[in-house]
Amino acid sequence: MTEPRSTTRGDAAAARPWVILSCTTSLDGCLDDTTSRRLLLSNDADFDRVDALRASVDAILVGAGTVRADNPRLLVRSPERRAARIARGEPASPLRVVVSGSGKLDRDAAVFTAEGAETVVYGAAGRHGSGGGSRSGDSGSGRTVDFGELLDNLARRGVRRLMVEGGASVLTRFLAEDLADEIQLSIAPFLLGDRDAPHAFGPGGYPQSPSRRMILGESRTLGDVQFSRYLVNRAAPDATSDAHMLRLAVELSRSCPPVMGAFSVGAIVTDANGAVISTGYSREPRSGLGDPDKNHAEEVALAKLDPADPRLKAATLFTSLEPCSPRSSRPLSCTDHILAAGIPRIVLALREPALLAVCDGADRLRAAGVDVVELPELGEHVRAINAHLLG
Ligand SMILES: NC(=O)c1ccc[n+]([C@@H]2O[C@H](COP(=O)([O-])OP(=O)(O)OC[C@H]3O[C@@H](n4cnc5c(N)ncnc54)[C@H](OP(=O)(O)O)[C@@H]3O)[C@@H](O)[C@H]2O)c1
Repeated sequence: MTEPRSTTRGDAAAARPWVILSCTTSLDGCLDDTTSRRLLLSNDADFDRVDALRASVDAILVGAGTVRADNPRLLVRSPERRAARIARGEPASPLRVVVSGSGKLDRDAAVFTAEGAETVVYGAAGRHGSGGGSRSGDSGSGRTVDFGELLDNLARRGVRRLMVEGGASVLTRFLAEDLADEIQLSIAPFLLGDRDAPHAFGPGGYPQSPSRRMILGESRTLGDVQFSRYLVNRAAPDATSDAHMLRLAVELSRSCPPVMGAFSVGAIVTDANGAVISTGYSREPRSGLGDPDKNHAEEVALAKLDPADPRLKAATLFTSLEPCSPRSSRPLSCTDHILAAGIPRIVLALREPALLAVCDGADRLRAAGVDVVELPELGEHVRAINAHLLG
């Protein structure tokens, strides 16, 4: 790995893949029990959610312990999702990445033999299998893998979204080293009560402390399983924090139920110190606003705050798409809501393409004295998330 590493947080956010930690646990945080039997934590709806997430990423990473314990195939199951990936010019399933210091991996493990995706192994001494169209032995010598270098290396392979599917030690390490951007956590409605069972997030010096709370981006029930998305706020109060917070707003928009007649948008409101005070996404269920299908990200985020909240007068609203104006679905546009709230600054990624309406929200806000910052370099992510409309 001789190419220059990204060193600043801003560079890393641009160069490294977006890292999503994904797991399902018992109510007391266990990923598994200590028996050799397979423990069923997810239900069908949750398995389907995991499959959709797999279909949305470029690579899936697991530790060797998970390969040895679960023998996962790490493939996209749904034929429709595989077909959609192929139509986008992607392989049917994402690249499979295994991390192993010892190289003690069964050459017949499904991650190597199940056809449908390539596999690379990082850190192993070369005793792993490589059948079934897989590729392996990337790092050569048995050793501890530097996860930051691993991310840089995956970025150079073209990986832009990485899903980390476990297990305990890998999840813990990504968080403790502040390398995760998002956690997708499902909780099954039972307890295991076994301190020897693998816990999703073991003891560690986590930067995601009470003084650096994560953003609860989404929470919903899937049958008897509770699913939540947490966005990790790694922003520092420096020149790069606008881009970081806007990227979080863009990623938040992935929680929007996609519909053909509307954009998927994410919005985050921060106070004068850069602390997140509210979030919203398109069609987010929010009582008091009426039909949730008509909810816009910015109006949801503002509806969660008291209109008299003094923090609004020094707030910044980050939105993945230009605030709407005009609007046909409700009397007040998001531009109207922002002006009424007295927010002095907004940061946006993409001007609204003239598809559903001709929007002049950014110009109206500027004309009213609002500082409008545009970071079009993040627009490609917004376009990708809105591919259902924009192609
Ligand atoms: N419920 C869920 O969603 C879920 C998901 C995944 C896994 N799980 C469960 O999690 C358990 C496995 O967790 P685990 O902590 O034992 O295993 P793990 O995190 O999957 O893998 C740990 C192994 O990964 C390798 N590794 C980790 N960091 C490394 C580094 N920096 N450099 C080189 N190698 C590194 C090492 O392999 P070597 O030993 O080869 O050196 C290490 O022993 C299983 O019980 C599984 O069922 C549950």
